[in-house]
Order: sequence, then C-alpha cells, then structure tokens
Amino acid sequence: MVYEATASAPVNIAVIKYWGKRDTKLILPTNSSLSVTLDQDHLRSTTTSRADASFAKDRLWLNGEEEAIKEGGRLHTCIKELRAWRLEEESKQDSLPKIGDLKLHIASYNNFPTAAGLASSASGLAALVASLAALYELPQSRSELSRIARQGSGSACRSLFGGFVAWREGHAKDGSDSLAEEVAPREHWPDLQALICVVSDAKKGTSSTSGMQATVETSPLLQERLRVVPQRMVDISTAIEARDFDEFGRITMADSNQFHAVCLDTAPPIFYLNDTSRAIIALVQELNRASEANGNGLVAAYTFDAGPNAVLYAPAANMPVVIAAVNKYFPQANAFADPFQMGTTATLPAGFDDKVVNGGWEKGAVKQLIHTQVGDGPRRLDDKESLLNTEGIPK
Ligand code: DP6
Repeated sequence: MVYEATASAPVNIAVIKYWGKRDTKLILPTNSSLSVTLDQDHLRSTTTSRADASFAKDRLWLNGEEEAIKEGGRLHTCIKELRAWRLEEESKQDSLPKIGDLKLHIASYNNFPTAAGLASSASGLAALVASLAALYELPQSRSELSRIARQGSGSACRSLFGGFVAWREGHAKDGSDSLAEEVAPREHWPDLQALICVVSDAKKGTSSTSGMQATVETSPLLQERLRVVPQRMVDISTAIEARDFDEFGRITMADSNQFHAVCLDTAPPIFYLNDTSRAIIALVQELNRASEANGNGLVAAYTFDAGPNAVLYAPAANMPVVIAAVNKYFPQANAFADPFQMGTTATLPAGFDDKVVNGGWEKGAVKQLIHTQVGDGPRRLDDKESLLNTEGIPK
C-alpha cells in the first residue's frame, strides 16, 4: 500500500497588503490583508507527499533540488502540526492506518520560473499543506489548515482558498484566530483578470521577511497605515460584493502606494519599485485619467509586492486595451503567448497622452507578460500526477 497524495495550490496577489508581524515565530500580522487568488491553470505549485516505513527521515525537494528541513524552522513547524493532527485522529479511530509516525518524502514543483521573481512561497506552502492534509485525510476545515500554512509563510494562508480571500489578523496570543477565510468565491466575479508584468531587475532585493520587520521597528508611518487598513478591509469587501471595479481599483492602488511608502519610510529605506515599475504606474494612471475624462470608469488597477513586477487587475472587457498599452510602451523580447488570445492592437482611450509614459521603453524592460484571471483554491490531483518515483525520489 502506497500512502501518498498530490495537490496543487494557487498564487495569490494581495490588494490590501500584509506588511509587518506582531509575532515573528507564530507569524501573526500587524494588520488584516485581502487577496485575489489567481488561476492554477496558469500559475501553480504542485506537491506530492508520501509516508513510507522504508524512509529514514523527512526529506523535501523543491523543483528537483533537495532543501533542508531545519528543526524548529517554518517547514518543520508545518509538518509537525499536521502530523500531530493525524496522530490525534489515529488515537481516536483504531481502524485508521498508522501512518502519522512514518517519515515523509515531499516533492514540490512550481510551473512558473523562479527567475520570473514571482513569490512562490505562498503557493508552495499552500500546496504542501493541502497535500499533507489529503494524505492524512484530516477533518480540519480550510480555515483551520490556513493557520498551519500561515506559519510557513504569512501570505500562504490566503492560498488555501479561491476567489477573494481575507486573512483576519486575529487577537489571540496563540494565533488561533489569525486565519484566512473566503470573502467571495471566484464564481462571484469571474470576469476579473490579472496581467502580470515581469519587470527586468538584476539586483537582489530585500526579502519580505526581513523588510517587514525593519518597517515594524523603524517606520513611524506604519502606525498611520495600521490606522487606515481596517476601513479599507471593509470598503474593498463591499466593492467586491458589488463587483464595483472603480472602487476596488482605487483602494488597490492606494494600498499598494501606501505599502511602498512605508517601505521608503523604513530605516534604511527599502526600494522595491524601479524606473520601469514607476513608468507602469504612470501608464495605468494615464489610461484611467483619459477613460474617466471620456465619461467611463477605471481601465485597470496596479499593485506591486516586494519587488518591481506589476500586477494589473482589470475586468476582462478592458484587458485588450491594457495589453495593447503595455505592449506598445514596454515591448517584450519574446512574443506574448496569451491564453485568452486578446491580441495586442486595441485602441487606447481618446485623449491618451503619450508623453506621460515617456514615449516608450527599450525592448526587455518588461521581460514577460502573464495573463490570468481569478481562480479556485487547492485541488487534489490524481495519483498519475505524482512527482515521486517508486523509490520516493522526485521523477
Ligand atoms: C508584499 O508572506 O512572503 O507580498 O510571512 O515573512 O513569509 P513571510 O512574508 P510573506 O510576505 C508577503 C508580503 C507581500 C504582501 C502580501 O502578500 O500581502
């Protein structure tokens, strides 16, 4: 009998950012956050977990490379907690196979290049938790599982759900109420799409983990952010409920700007945006200004995480214009393979002012475009999709 399960999990991109911990060990945030889950058909992490009596120790491979599972580290904590839940079930139900004490081999694979600079920790940790929960047939809810994923990487807790997801900061000292919950499923607003602009950047940036801690320790502006986020959480949830893109977009951009402002307010300052990122902001701003001047709503909303890549959210109907604009001013070296085949030649809004974007950037400032949409939560995959061979080593 092979005890094994394979699961995949999605990437999520926050529209209300998580930036700061009040407890670094339990990974408890200084504020609630909210994200959109992206479609696993385009971006996903897949993980296979197997328990076997022949394994000598717990081992984990990421994209084929073995990674150490450090005692007391984040991965170790996630595995330990899920195993404890399995052992608890085994002690309650005699009929359950005794697999909780067996060593594990875990293989994880991202279908997007690490070089793209997209956060892979959220989808990776969520896939790990989903595959272990499936292997162990745990009865815990997705919100309860999100508490475990949170201890692997804060933002990972939001990848346990599809659609629109809130991570409630919680108040309990032990973190028991700091978990993710669904605000709305993808079916509520299936029309919302995302265009990820992978921005070329040679320098190694500050990691989110150390960057946010520096902000907590040194930024006076963070206190102002913590004062305004609770109302933003309410307002963006209302906008999602009403599928009000204008309101959703305005809050998303304001929150991205404020997050990068607290980074600049950190000592020493942290710069995640580069010249290309700022030019993309100017482009979106001008698209929106021209559209509003013509009596229409926002075309798109930008948001940036701890790096220079832009994520542009827009309703499907606006995406051809967004793609045409990005393609015109930020031509990529390689042709854009759009799964939605929207083309790159839509007309920009009347009155669009070229000068605002500096008239066009050299090829390659934006390396790659990834077009996707709001997606579902973790999926249990068929055994055929296993990443481990018969010996329990990555295929
Ligand atoms: C800017 O979840 O990567 O993407 O909890 O230390 O692992 P750790 O940090 P991480 O931080 C993500 C920060 C962000 C904003 C967000 O996703 O909400």
